[in-house]
Amino acid sequence: MQSGVFFAAPRTAEIEFGAGRLAGIAEDVARVAGAGAPVVAVVDAALMSIGPGADLASALEAGGSPVALYVEIAGEPKEAQVDAIAEIARAIGARAVVAMGGGAALDAGKLAACVAADEAPARGYALGAAPLPSPRLGLICIPTTAGTGSEVTRTAVISTEDGAKLWYWGEALQPDLALLDPLLTLSLPPHITAWTGLDAYVHALEATTNHHRSPVSALHGHAALRLLAAHLPDAVARPDDLAARSAVLWGATQAGLAINVGSTAIAHCVSHALGTLGPVHHGLATVLAQEAALAWQVEGELNAGGEGPFAAVAAASGTSLAEFPQWFSDFISRCDVARRLPPGFAAIGAEALAREMLAPANAPMKEATLRVFGPGEVEALAARVMALAA
Ligand SMILES: [Fe+2]
Repeated sequence: MQSGVFFAAPRTAEIEFGAGRLAGIAEDVARVAGAGAPVVAVVDAALMSIGPGADLASALEAGGSPVALYVEIAGEPKEAQVDAIAEIARAIGARAVVAMGGGAALDAGKLAACVAADEAPARGYALGAAPLPSPRLGLICIPTTAGTGSEVTRTAVISTEDGAKLWYWGEALQPDLALLDPLLTLSLPPHITAWTGLDAYVHALEATTNHHRSPVSALHGHAALRLLAAHLPDAVARPDDLAARSAVLWGATQAGLAINVGSTAIAHCVSHALGTLGPVHHGLATVLAQEAALAWQVEGELNAGGEGPFAAVAAASGTSLAEFPQWFSDFISRCDVARRLPPGFAAIGAEALAREMLAPANAPMKEATLRVFGPGEVEALAARVMALAA
């Protein structure tokens, strides 16, 4: 056998993709947890009023499953919400959790499916302090934004009551099934489509350009970059374009597969730090952070000869390394994103952001970044980001 370095891809969720695929959810539950298994359905609050949430509940009930609906997730998912979902699951003897929504609902449902298998509250498992309970309940994730990729990752991000975002990780967080139905993304407003789609683009960029990158993260990440670069502006401009929506949803899941093996880097360090300082959409924070850091990152690769992983990202996006920072800025503009942090950030200084970037929960993402930060460069990046709050 040839010697060398081999990369083993971890187990990932089974993936089902198709317009209208939600209709088959009862059979999926039967496969994952047994026919008629009691289910907790964690559904993003916004989806209950516009159809998909009710469609999910009635499809589950038609399959004979008693269903407890949890519809309190709006904005960042909280520890207390995870504990509440787990308590409901225990109370009804649930054998599966079905989570539908954006990353918030998916992450809450994922962690609750694990925590429900024990009596301890979620906090005890934060930052890898204790291994997650295993086996967990059956777990099906149905994304209705095309962004986080949480449906195929073994991580979750949950906020404490005082707003700190804590990472959870472990194989138990990898769902049994990711059900991708692009019809569910048609009602996503243009600005959310842009923010979540650009978050996915940055997942693919970071997973293929950081210290943890591998041939596996490149395989998925470059596929994601090609899909998102080609189709995201169309999905923003034409919300009913099912072909564009399908490409973006598949691209976001490919980007999720990339971060599942490759993790993230400086843009997510900054966006998690921003999220700790005040309420801001994760996708918006991430894309603004990536734009602020990109020229510096590309400069590092150009100085080293210009044939590194950013050149591959540029090529997958249809441009050259030298042109890539400008291409990325144009891409953001084509997605009609306003470069502005919420008004509450105007009172927060760049020093506070720099401090949060270096906090233990965020520093590993900075350390994963390929270009090493020299003296004053963290502070300079923080200043460039916070100038968007003026
Ligand atoms: Fe992200």
